[in-house]
Amino acid sequence: MKLPTLQIGALKPSIPLIQGGMAVRISTAGLAAAVANEGGIGIIAGTGMTVEELKNEIRKARQLTKGIIGVNVMYAVSAFAELVKTAIEEKIDLIVSGAGFSRDMFSWGREANIPVVPIVSTGKLARISEMLGAAAVVVEGSEAGGHLGTTESIKKLVPEVKDSVSIPVIAAGGITDNNDVEEIFRLGADGVQVGVRFAASTESNAADNLKEAYVNARDEDIILIDSPVGLLGRTIRNEFSEKLLRNEVPLPANCMQCLKKCKKNFCIIKALENAQQGNLKEGLIFSGEHIGKIKEILPVKEIIRSLLQTFDRNED
Ligand SMILES: Cc1cc2nc3c(=O)[nH]c(=O)nc-3n(C[C@H](O)[C@H](O)[C@H](O)COP(=O)(O)O)c2cc1C
Repeated sequence: MKLPTLQIGALKPSIPLIQGGMAVRISTAGLAAAVANEGGIGIIAGTGMTVEELKNEIRKARQLTKGIIGVNVMYAVSAFAELVKTAIEEKIDLIVSGAGFSRDMFSWGREANIPVVPIVSTGKLARISEMLGAAAVVVEGSEAGGHLGTTESIKKLVPEVKDSVSIPVIAAGGITDNNDVEEIFRLGADGVQVGVRFAASTESNAADNLKEAYVNARDEDIILIDSPVGLLGRTIRNEFSEKLLRNEVPLPANCMQCLKKCKKNFCIIKALENAQQGNLKEGLIFSGEHIGKIKEILPVKEIIRSLLQTFDRNED
């Protein structure tokens, strides 16, 4: 099968693959640069970082690669505008907004000539994004790790979104091996976004025991929790998520007001930070549905080779 060509604005990655932004600090400069060095688009997750930290990560990534680097920020965070504008000032190649978007972010991108790509879960939102100026959309199905905007499978959403827009459609959610990639491209996607497979890579910034938790988890360990941002979140069952299901997680003493709207059932930034640092007892482990297929921590180069193993590469 021939590998599709992905073009987002003027950006032409040599492979049609985006590494999903993974907060808090799971996809930082090292992972993003490793993906970019393989010809994909590497994404730094800005959510949960300070402006200074995001700046440093972008600069670090630039030293590690000449490839394409983007920044993902969750629309739900109070610092959304500040973080996106910082990435733009640092001349990032691409902005991805997770779980929502605003009209003005498209004008910020337009003014700086930087493509803006929202993550959507319906044909309708894809169409609105295109009208507002999106250069492409990532369509995320219910199989995805992290926050979910839908209960529909990515296999149903790809044809629906392709019919709704003429900009490139990048599919995300549960894409973990070569069969998944083939299936998604047969459905007409222009690119794939892969999350948790890269969280369990050598270059991921997750603590070693978090990477081990990913490779040891089975599909039946995946559950949904109620996130303070007002969406469901797909995670691995552990002591922390079980406590959450029983409403037994205490609220933090010092709330930083980091979300625009927060249900305050627990502090999600702290819980994701705990997991990233290896405190799994108090950590929330976001994961896609097909975690059982991930058996080894592998270098990015090897993961990408395996994901695309049956495709003929475009050489231009
Ligand atoms: C640990 C983790 C953290 C994530 N953080 C973010 C985030 O900060 N912003 C976002 O838009 N999506 C986030 N996601 C979603 C991914 O970018 C990606 O779209 C999704 O994981 C795709 O599904 P997969 O993990 O099955 O490949 C996260 C996913 C994981 C597993």
